[in-house]
Amino acid sequence: MAIDYTEKIPNNVDLDSDRRLQRALESWQPAFLQWWSSMGPTLPTRDVYLRTAVSVGREGWADFGYVALPEYRWGIFLAERDRDRRVAFGEHKGEPVWQQVPGEYRAELQRLIVIQGDTEPASVEQQRRLGLSAPSLYDLRNLFQVNVEEGRHLWAMVYLLHAYFGRDGREEAQALLHRHSGDLDSPRILGAFNEETPDWLSFFMFTYFTDRDGKYQLGTLKESAFDPLSRTCEFMLKEEAHHMFVGTTGVDRVVERTAQLMTEHDSDDVVAAGGIPLDVIQRYLNFHYSVSLDLFGSETSTNAGNYYTAGLKGRWMEERRHDDHRLTEDSMWVDTVEDGELHRIEVAALTALNEDLRGEYIRDCQNGVARWNRILDSYGVGRSLHLPHAGFNRKVGLFAGHHIGPSGELLAEAEWRRRAPAWLPTEQDKAYVRSLMKPVYERGKIAAWIAPPRQGINGKPFEYEYVHLS
Ligand SMILES: [Fe+2]
Ligand SMILES: [Fe+2]
Repeated sequence: MAIDYTEKIPNNVDLDSDRRLQRALESWQPAFLQWWSSMGPTLPTRDVYLRTAVSVGREGWADFGYVALPEYRWGIFLAERDRDRRVAFGEHKGEPVWQQVPGEYRAELQRLIVIQGDTEPASVEQQRRLGLSAPSLYDLRNLFQVNVEEGRHLWAMVYLLHAYFGRDGREEAQALLHRHSGDLDSPRILGAFNEETPDWLSFFMFTYFTDRDGKYQLGTLKESAFDPLSRTCEFMLKEEAHHMFVGTTGVDRVVERTAQLMTEHDSDDVVAAGGIPLDVIQRYLNFHYSVSLDLFGSETSTNAGNYYTAGLKGRWMEERRHDDHRLTEDSMWVDTVEDGELHRIEVAALTALNEDLRGEYIRDCQNGVARWNRILDSYGVGRSLHLPHAGFNRKVGLFAGHHIGPSGELLAEAEWRRRAPAWLPTEQDKAYVRSLMKPVYERGKIAAWIAPPRQGINGKPFEYEYVHLS
């Protein structure tokens, strides 16, 4: 089904047929645009070469073309409905999925949607100043692509709130525009979304590690018995793949440039040559990985089990799991700290679902590290990057309040403090990375701290004029 872009709010949910909902969303639209102009990208541009969703089908779902950012057509797109779809897990397993919100799960479903919705505009706010210092026009364009799509993901969640949660939902939709990343009075809901993204190394680490948490959360909501939520998330995952790509290849290119400079100068010290030392890359990785692990919530959680049993939130790739999809009899091992030592404890599988998802995520993150190490290997630099231990620098869950080093060693607070500057970005690291952040907006040019991409966007070369500045 192609999407009609002459409508005020492009959509494939037949908005025309529901005047009340249409009016409600049309009255939210100016507030969204106001938010975009005050909290969105700060760099003035004439237009940007962007992709816009035009259909939700398997092929050719997006169009590429120059768009003035404030005129981007944020719309409401759900994946196609599968009329035979049934609940895949929990106590409603095998029943037809729900097209309406069951009264008994209303509060929980609304909460899940608000938490997901809150992360979308948060990242736009975190990234708003990055346009002032992009390493190339290609990177600048990718930043804006991520930004407009996070804006669209906000629309996706706001649609659900308006369409299915009545007055409470409309109030929550307003509140999504009133909380702001890092705001002392009304911050975003989750910790990692109140951290700054002050430089491009942070941006690539964020899109690798934190957007990837988003991918896994959307994957569990895609399993939801509430079908409109499932279909919404399925389509969001399609867009999210580009955000992962930006993170993965962004870190690739930083690592590649560092490796080049290390071999050229036969030294780990690449500062004089304007590169980012591998130690600094490792510390940024440690930080972004650990704050992203916190986003999965506590290792043991009765809420997570209740969401599962109720059919609200499944596991990653639920239907590919070989078990009874109810988990009432199963157990799982989780790591914890007891009597000053790390231990594994056995807990009911239903209470360990956050840990189950975090485990999937960690395995995925290991692919990134393996990839970056292959780049280092190909330059023969004899060094590698690592994921720190899952307990490292955690503020949420069973490791919170303990001090665990990157190799999993339990430390006294004084020792942690003494050694942390080797493990987490120091003020000096941040100042150095910031000093490299000078915009390079000449066609085909790139900053010295990063390698150019192997390919451009949509078959265009790297030298393409992806952004027209104003
Ligand atoms: Fe998103
Ligand atoms: Fe994203």
